[in-house]
Amino acid sequence: MTSTLPPSNSTRATRVIRGRILHFLRDPQFHDDGYEYWEDGALVVTDGRIAAAGNYATLAPTLPADAELIDHRGKLIVPGFIDTHIHYPQTDIIASPSPGLLHWLDTYTFPEERRFSEPSYARAVADFFTDELLRNGTTSALVWSTVHATSADALFAASEARNLRMITGKVMMDRNCPDFLRDTAETGARDSADLLSRWHNKGRLAYAITPRFAPTSSEAQLAACGELARAHPDAFIQTHVAENRDEVKWVAELFPDARSYLDVYDRYGLLRPGAFYGHAIYLDPDDRRRLADSGAAVAHCPTSNLFLGSGFYDFHQSDAHRLNVTLATDVGGGTSFSMFRTMNAAHKVARMGGYHLTALRMFYLATRAAAEAMGWADRIGSFDVGCEADFIVLDPDATPLIARRSSRSETLEEQLFAFAMLGDDRVIEDVYVMGKAVGEREGESVGKAVDKAPDNAPDNAPDNAGAREYGLSAMS
Ligand code: GUN
Ligand code: ZN
Repeated sequence: MTSTLPPSNSTRATRVIRGRILHFLRDPQFHDDGYEYWEDGALVVTDGRIAAAGNYATLAPTLPADAELIDHRGKLIVPGFIDTHIHYPQTDIIASPSPGLLHWLDTYTFPEERRFSEPSYARAVADFFTDELLRNGTTSALVWSTVHATSADALFAASEARNLRMITGKVMMDRNCPDFLRDTAETGARDSADLLSRWHNKGRLAYAITPRFAPTSSEAQLAACGELARAHPDAFIQTHVAENRDEVKWVAELFPDARSYLDVYDRYGLLRPGAFYGHAIYLDPDDRRRLADSGAAVAHCPTSNLFLGSGFYDFHQSDAHRLNVTLATDVGGGTSFSMFRTMNAAHKVARMGGYHLTALRMFYLATRAAAEAMGWADRIGSFDVGCEADFIVLDPDATPLIARRSSRSETLEEQLFAFAMLGDDRVIEDVYVMGKAVGEREGESVGKAVDKAPDNAPDNAPDNAGAREYGLSAMS
């Protein structure tokens, strides 16, 4: 099926991006028609939004005469990646050697996060961080700031300057942490409410209520988080849960009345759609049922779980309960900004549990699944008509090895799997935000831009939407 708007006589700027177009409609793990793929496809972008996506030959006759054609033929174009759990203040301590989570927090993380009380320091890191996300093809993220309100201001400002759809929140923690990073139940709630009033739903930005994890929040602070959540039903929530065995034991000691670690958050009203739980490794069946019923999501962080030796996410159990699982880097516990490296690790973590995580599923998790879990499927994560045109151009010939493997790929799954196992930032050829290439200046051409309107004559390319297995080697 080709999705399209009626032919346009509009004089507004329309861009046509030609290439191999892939996006997801629903989870390909459970639906054979979970995706659409056009081998000679086109995205039609008007005013920064998707006006149509489909077969190039079908769309060409519908285009306004003054449409600008950008030619990415041979490249794969997918929605920009969405990272659902990443700590921007940990950018500069990524890859710090440590025996595990609690030591790593004390030794590297907390001293670095202290520096974000200084607004100019925070802004400099936020600028580098957002550029590094884009270099890796990540166009939206659910980001952690530090306990300092100014750190969230810096990330919001850096995102606004790049017109990115981004979410962050100031960390709340009022116990079991160094004094220099401690707020109180009152100041944490007040600063969060103030940030929320200034940034939530401002342009493409949104706010997340961000208690660090149960061990660093008093009951009073968790209650304040719950109150804030109730007062702002569309605000996001993010925290960590059941990442590490020692941490789980510690929570059981700190909250003896709670049925489980997850139950601590549930008691304070923090389980709901738009709430993202990082890690979620050590859950029991009741926890998984409750997570699924609540509509909250899991941010699975495989490079972090391997690096910190935390454990293996259980995909069998996750699917059995139909959890809203998404993919995340968790930099700096995670070891890469790249969603390809994250897919690589996710696949291997799943393998360790005897589960085969397909590349199609991983691309879905990194795009539409995250958008759905955010309640933003009408805005990002796919090429549905009306969505904001954030997309990335992937080069199957990015390196000599990837080129050789791509040339042998006989199915879409094989090509995506090659990207997932071998790929990193080198695969990202171009990144578009709201229809504009990153770094593009007004009036500048991108891709292999062609000045004239597209040739309306259909070519031989078949419309392969929904093709389950597709021969890609034929088309390069
Ligand atoms: N648990 C509490 N804080 C953190 C953090 O910064 N990173 C990770 N991976 N786990 C946490
Ligand atoms: Zn984290």
